[in-house]
Amino acid sequence: MGIKLVGGRDTKRTSYFLKAAKELQIPVDFVEWQEISDVHWKNDVVKLDPFVFGESDLSEMNGLLEEYRMQLVNLQNAGCSFLNTPEGILSVLDKRGCKEKLMQYGVPVTELLSVQPRTVGQLHEEMELSRTSSVFIKPVYSSGAAGVIAYRRLPGKNKMVLYTSCCLKKGKLFNTKKLYRMEKWEEMGPLLEVVLSLGVIVERWRPKESFQGKSYDLRVVWQFGKIEYMLARQSQGPVTNLHLNNAPLALEKLGLSSQTVDGIEKICGQAMKCFPQLSMAGIDVLLEKGSRKPYIIEINGQGDLIYQDIYHENRIYKKQVEMMHRISPK
Ligand SMILES: Nc1ncnc2c1ncn2[C@@H]1O[C@H](COP(=O)(O)OP(=O)(O)OP(=O)(O)O)[C@@H](O)[C@H]1O
Ligand SMILES: [Mg+2]
Repeated sequence: MGIKLVGGRDTKRTSYFLKAAKELQIPVDFVEWQEISDVHWKNDVVKLDPFVFGESDLSEMNGLLEEYRMQLVNLQNAGCSFLNTPEGILSVLDKRGCKEKLMQYGVPVTELLSVQPRTVGQLHEEMELSRTSSVFIKPVYSSGAAGVIAYRRLPGKNKMVLYTSCCLKKGKLFNTKKLYRMEKWEEMGPLLEVVLSLGVIVERWRPKESFQGKSYDLRVVWQFGKIEYMLARQSQGPVTNLHLNNAPLALEKLGLSSQTVDGIEKICGQAMKCFPQLSMAGIDVLLEKGSRKPYIIEINGQGDLIYQDIYHENRIYKKQVEMMHRISPK
């Protein structure tokens, strides 16, 4: 009976969560994902951090992610309380399901196209039908920008440009820590075919606001009914994930008006209402170029790791430990 943290041993997430608990003198048991079948969960309050996936090609990754989803399904009936329930985590892990729900409830999002192209021909057909020259293509279950592609097909149709952090080696698709720009069809055609075969969603590419010549979006950590932390991620290219050598930027530097900040808070609140099984989430928010109107890109049910916080106040994890302690049966 107490608080349990499930995750990968010695990861930043688990180390700093345990550090927060130690500072607050609240006991927390750590459980590795590999050990969960031996655990008795009754009356515990549990936080589920992500699986740790080693380097692998993205089609193998699809298999590992399926295994991970099965583990989450098995935990649904464990008989304990969760910070974020397995159902809640699963419902946003599916990028399509998450987007469809947000759209259904009228939350402003980067728009999902209805098609699920499996080939480049189908993709181009859909782009023509929906009169879109620029799209984002994302594997349904990816994270960390793995397999994400920004693709623009210019009006003459013979000029295309593609940005991605993954590369094709001997027919296998690997994620890297660098953003590549491609213009040659010989390079991008085979890559698109492999990514599309993984099962993807396609979105309209919405231009982002920029600061000092670089575009940015925001990672908002929302927990227990409010924004706990907000950080901008600045990038030379269209994909802003921080492991791609992009720069985090303190929000205050952007000089956003209180009206814009209120707008961000409002849509994050609306988005979280769609997923009542999540007490916490990392929400990617895009501010439209020019208008700064906010749109939700996606919700990460385990998206609470912010280096700028863990190395300073560690307040995100401290708040979680306190809240879990509060609801833990005594
Ligand atoms: N429709 C869009 N228009 C413009 N930019 C987008 C769009 N979709 C995604 N992006 C950019 O690509 C990045 C990666 O996309 P997304 O957050 O959906 O996937 P992910 O990063 O793989 O998931 P995770 O956040 O779980 O790691 C976003 O942070 C954003 O910078
Ligand atoms: Mg993201």
